[in-house]
Amino acid sequence: MLRLAILVSGGGTNLQAIIDAIAQGRITNAQIAAVISNNPGAYALERAKQAGIPHICVSPKSYAQRSEFNAALLQTIRSCEPDLIVLAGCMVVLPQELIQAYAGKIINIHPALIPSFCGKGYYGLHVHEKVLERGVKLTGATVHFADEGTDTGPIILQKAVEVKQDDTPQTLQRRVMEEAEWNILPEAINLIANGRVRIKDGKTIIDGGEA
Ligand code: GRF
Repeated sequence: MLRLAILVSGGGTNLQAIIDAIAQGRITNAQIAAVISNNPGAYALERAKQAGIPHICVSPKSYAQRSEFNAALLQTIRSCEPDLIVLAGCMVVLPQELIQAYAGKIINIHPALIPSFCGKGYYGLHVHEKVLERGVKLTGATVHFADEGTDTGPIILQKAVEVKQDDTPQTLQRRVMEEAEWNILPEAINLIANGRVRIKDGKTIIDGGEA
């Protein structure tokens, strides 16, 4: 059983998609060991509570120094003994120490098709605002391994989503979640939990192909 630590900051719809996929058998060989939020008000914590999953908040506001918060976050994660850390709408800039300690064991969902609309400043609704500003016809979501860079790690899965002429950042965000994020994040976890994802030369290889 792959032990998952899921890091969240907000509504937790991606967390919910993972909870549901485990319950429905679309993710096998994995269990959620803990949900960790930096934001005490995150509805994701309530979702974890309702599902009977251990959950904890580690807020930067509780620490005088960023380094103290980083150490507490790392300690909390270590105590969950995770095999895989899933960033599911996690808005925290991860400490380098954490990334190094769990190299190849952290995945992130990004709401665009990397390498488009990613990197510094591209998070949350901003991504969709930029997509609409540029007028691209397709966007989507990407699940990738996290490394020291911003959105630069090996890509695991991607799914394209149509941009509509009358989209607002909010309607586009919702469609990207429904059609892409909530599908490919559970799917990527299932692939990893079943030993089907390898990293070679900075790219991933999915044994047996996708899905
Ligand atoms: C998602 O769009 C995710 O890609 C982005 O933040 C959002 C999180 O939503 N990084 P939720 O908390 O899973 O509902």
